[in-house]
This record gives sequence, C-alpha cells and structure tokens, in this order.
Amino acid sequence: MLNNLKQTFSKQFGQECQRTFFAPGRVNLIGEHIDYNGGLVMPCAVTYGTYLLTAPNKDGIFRFSSVNFPETYETPVLPEYSKTGKEWFNYPLGVIHNFVADKKEVQGLDLLFYGDLPIGAGLSSSASLEVVIAYALNTIFKTGYSKLDLVKLTKRVENEFIGVNSGIMDQFAVTFGEKNKALKLDCESLEYQAVECDLADNLLAIINTNKPRKLAESKYNERVSECAQALEALQTELSIDNLCDINTQTFEAHKHLIKDPTVQKRAQHVIEENDRVQLAASALAAHKLDEFGRLMFASHDSLQSLYEVSGIELDTIVAFCKTYSGVTGARMTGAGFGGCAIALVKKDKFEDFSKSITDHYSNTIGYAPSVYSSEIGTGVVEL
Ligand code: GLA
Repeated sequence: MLNNLKQTFSKQFGQECQRTFFAPGRVNLIGEHIDYNGGLVMPCAVTYGTYLLTAPNKDGIFRFSSVNFPETYETPVLPEYSKTGKEWFNYPLGVIHNFVADKKEVQGLDLLFYGDLPIGAGLSSSASLEVVIAYALNTIFKTGYSKLDLVKLTKRVENEFIGVNSGIMDQFAVTFGEKNKALKLDCESLEYQAVECDLADNLLAIINTNKPRKLAESKYNERVSECAQALEALQTELSIDNLCDINTQTFEAHKHLIKDPTVQKRAQHVIEENDRVQLAASALAAHKLDEFGRLMFASHDSLQSLYEVSGIELDTIVAFCKTYSGVTGARMTGAGFGGCAIALVKKDKFEDFSKSITDHYSNTIGYAPSVYSSEIGTGVVEL
C-alpha cells in the first residue's frame, strides 16, 4: 500500500516522497459528550487513519492532494490563511494557519494524503488529518511544539478555523494513543493514564451506520450550548467550573435550578456518564468485561433518551447487539447523529455477528452497514 502511495506521489508532484507520517482515528469506549464538560473520557486509537507523504519543493508553495478526494489546492506560504469552502484541505490549511499565525517558520511542501478511515463517520477522520499534518510540520521544520501543544493547536483549528465547538478528546487520542491501551483522560486537567485494555476473548467491532450525517455540526454546537446553559443555572448555587465537577447525588439535589426540562436531561446525561467512566475504568482494571459491557449499553441508552444524539440507525444496531449472545457490550461512539457504533464481540462469533447484523440492519433501515474489527493502535508517528 505504501509503495503505491509513493508512486502516486511521484506522478502527482514529479519528485520522490521524502517522509511519511501516520495518525490514527479513534473510538471512544465510554464517556460521550463529556470532554467539553470537563470530565473523564476513555478513547483509544484504532489502526485505521491518515497517511501523509511529503517532500519540500523549491517554489514556496503548499500543494495539497488526496487519494480520497478529487479536489486539490495550492497556496504560497503566507502570513495567514482563511477557510475556503468546505473541502477537505481546509483542515490542513487551518493547521498551517495556526503555525504561521504563531510566527513559526514553514516552507513550501508537496503533500499527499490518504485515509483508510470512513470519512465523517465519527471515528475522528478530521482530527486524524489535522494531527498528521501538525506532527509532520513540527518534525520537518523542528518547530519545537510538544505533543500536548499540537493537541491544543489542532483543537483550535476545529473550533476557530472550521467552526465546530468540539472538545479535546479526539485530537488527544489521535496524538497520545498507545497500543492495546485506552486513555483515561481528565479533560479539565489533561492528565491521563494509559489503561491496559484486555478484551479477553472479545474483539472490538466497529459498525458504521453509513448514514449521511447532515446537520451534525449544528446539532453538536446546540448540545454544547445546552450544557453551558445547564452549568450557568447550577452556578447560581454551586461554585463549579464544569458540569462534571459534581456527581449524580449533588446533581439530584440541585437539578431544580435548571428550569428547562430539555436542558436538565442533557445535564443528567453528562453527570451520570461521567460517573460511568469511573466505574468502567475500574471494571476494565478488574477484568470484569461483563460489567464494562453493561456500562456501554447504559451509556448508549442515556445518549438515546437523555442526550438525544442517537437515531434509528444507531439504535437498531445497539438493540440488535443486546439480543445477540456473542456481544458483551455496545454503544454509539463519537458525536452521534449517525456515524459508528462499537461493540465488544466474542472473537469466535464475529463472522456470524457481522453477517447477522448486516442482514438485520439492511432489512430494517434499507441499506447495509459496514462492519470492521479493529485492534487498538498507537498515536501519530513518522513511518
Ligand atoms: C466529537 C467531538 C469530541 C467529543 C465527541 C463526543 O467527536 O469532536 O470532542 O465531544 O464528539 O463525545
């Protein structure tokens, strides 16, 4: 595969590729819609992701090209950039913008991207794209950013350049992921532990709804602002900075402060989900996979009924998983509104699971899902 990409690079740019980088996508095992509320999440990197092949050019131009998309783009090195349309190259452009806006020295590069992640499906294809170019620029131009700087810089691209008010989880997982480990990350302090993720006789299955995600960004931003409203209401009596600063008990005693019932439901999800992450981390450490699976199902139920970011497609998948004896736990992963679900599936049942869920989903929804299995991979690297 890499050899083919190198040939494509040479054909495209008339010179050999000099360096190759890879950043993975991620799944979040549990802790959904928590990161922008200052709580705990548990993502891990997958082995699918974005490859970047690159070589400097003498023209002082950034040339962007992708195996996945027909559109290419080029621009000279400038002191700043702004978003142009909605195409894929805005993500790397936003990263370069943050480097130059921060007065970092960069020079022209030929850049070829290739992603084997389903795009826009909740597996952080955009964070993977942002982090791979940020890591490459930092390495090639010896910019001196730490990995954590790169996480913060790429999150700013998403928030300010692209315009989605997302939290820090995706960029963090894509950067710091470790093989066979989940990251238990405190999104407020940014302290994390890489927790051994022993799935015993289970494998990690990813089921893509293949639902086109319309309106996902505006719905996401709506949830972020509902949480801000909930926080403001609670702050009239509680001295807290984030919704995740309180546990379920404190929430129960103060939830009357949140007058809007919808906003109250959103806060309930966040606070209970944050508690579930603690329980899930303990269950994983104690090798209690059944308990972990039960918490995954509970997380999904809450995202479905309290946070309302699921949908018929994801619910069909998770409902099927509840009745299928080879599944230990399942839930939607990522922002929701379509995208992917994950499931812990007994290894010896995976083939049958894959076929059965494809049949069931196709009959119910009218088109097929895609089913993958993934190892837990490492974060961004130069290959
Ligand atoms: C998206 C965002 C993340 C996080 C998840 C939901 O993936 O990019 O920051 O909020 O949704 O947990």
